[in-house]
Amino acid sequence: MDYTVPYMKRLTNKHIVLGVTGSIAAYKSADLVRKLKTAGAEVHVIMTKGATEFITPLTMQAVSGNEVHQSLLDEKAEAGMGHIQLARWADLVLIAPASADCLSRLVLGRGDDLLGAVCLASTSPLAVAPAMNQAMWKDPATQENVAKLKTRGIHILGPAEGEQACGDTGPGRMLEPDDLVTEVEGLFESGILSGVKVMVTAGPTQEDIDPVRFISNRSSGKMGYALAQAAVEAGAEVILVSGPTSLPIPDRTRRIDIRSAREMHDAVHAEIKDIDIFIGAAAVADYRPIEAEAGKIKKDSDTLTLQMTKTEDILASVAGLKDRPYMVGFAAETDNLEANALKKLNAKQLDMIAANRVGEDPTGGTLGFESDENALSVFWQDGNKELSRMPKSQLARILVELIARRYKSEHNIIRPESFG
Ligand code: C5P
Repeated sequence: MDYTVPYMKRLTNKHIVLGVTGSIAAYKSADLVRKLKTAGAEVHVIMTKGATEFITPLTMQAVSGNEVHQSLLDEKAEAGMGHIQLARWADLVLIAPASADCLSRLVLGRGDDLLGAVCLASTSPLAVAPAMNQAMWKDPATQENVAKLKTRGIHILGPAEGEQACGDTGPGRMLEPDDLVTEVEGLFESGILSGVKVMVTAGPTQEDIDPVRFISNRSSGKMGYALAQAAVEAGAEVILVSGPTSLPIPDRTRRIDIRSAREMHDAVHAEIKDIDIFIGAAAVADYRPIEAEAGKIKKDSDTLTLQMTKTEDILASVAGLKDRPYMVGFAAETDNLEANALKKLNAKQLDMIAANRVGEDPTGGTLGFESDENALSVFWQDGNKELSRMPKSQLARILVELIARRYKSEHNIIRPESFG
């Protein structure tokens, strides 16, 4: 089974109006069009005057296969596919790159050029991929504009951080075309989990030692949050039970905040009724101090011994319920990945386990915790699948699709062979 092909074709028959504005990143828009088309979309390009200073309409016409739209007040163009028709045709209006000027024009609702008019006239989702110098991005005016656009439900894709064309380093780079395609795919819900209730646990837990100290771990929560987002995009109703993280609540997700393993256990069991799929992505502490001290521990002695006791295994406790959901666990391992994952699959009576290597990555950097990328080996009772290293958002979508297919096949909703 190959899960890549159906995933890549998520944009089949989708109509995308791509707005290109005046930014050096416009040179990447041609590649973006090509990749959107490879993913199955049909693309019409609107270029602002500024955009044409960076890349030619001829290039965009060649890659999109459609005449490029440039002017609002062009009789010939309006007689063909005018701004209202373009707006109606679009399933999504994507502006990439979106300059600082473009963002401010969107905030004002300016309709004095073709792109502005199409954005006003379209009732489809609007997504923008900002691209500008890091200081322009950080400027309070731009930040206020972005905040206003978000409150209107406009999707802000990126920007990424890194080296900039002007020589600066910082936030403001347009997301790479591949990442933009992934984001766009995410905006079109696959609906594979519509009507399904999913609970995801994410992040670390904090186990109190005294009123000011706790034991925790390096989990960032990124994988669990990406899974919650991917499940929402697949149409599920999602409850995210989260330990302390600095991450924003994923769109359309109900988040329950907890600190300790015990609080996570209680929150999970209070809401578990009616849950169809349980994904345990949290890095739950295995041990907690037997009793947190009531007052701050003084450093009077040279050594300090903490008496710890095992926390309750949340995943195993849910798996042991009579009416249990479809159970997906995670295994973060430094070695013997497969053997340890399979052991956990059976010991915790799971339906599926996603194992990832944590620690140093042989190619540099760290894998798993804190990283934006991950690679997973997924096992279920009679099969397995390797998901190679990629951004966690993309990995989460593939894993959610795999979970959905397995869940449905086990409930005889569809046959697994129909996937891939
Ligand atoms: O046994 P180990 O901690 O490696 O298993 C990891 C899996 O078990 C993860 O899915 C994690 O969320 C879950 N877990 C749990 N409760 C615990 C410990 C781990 O739900 N106390």
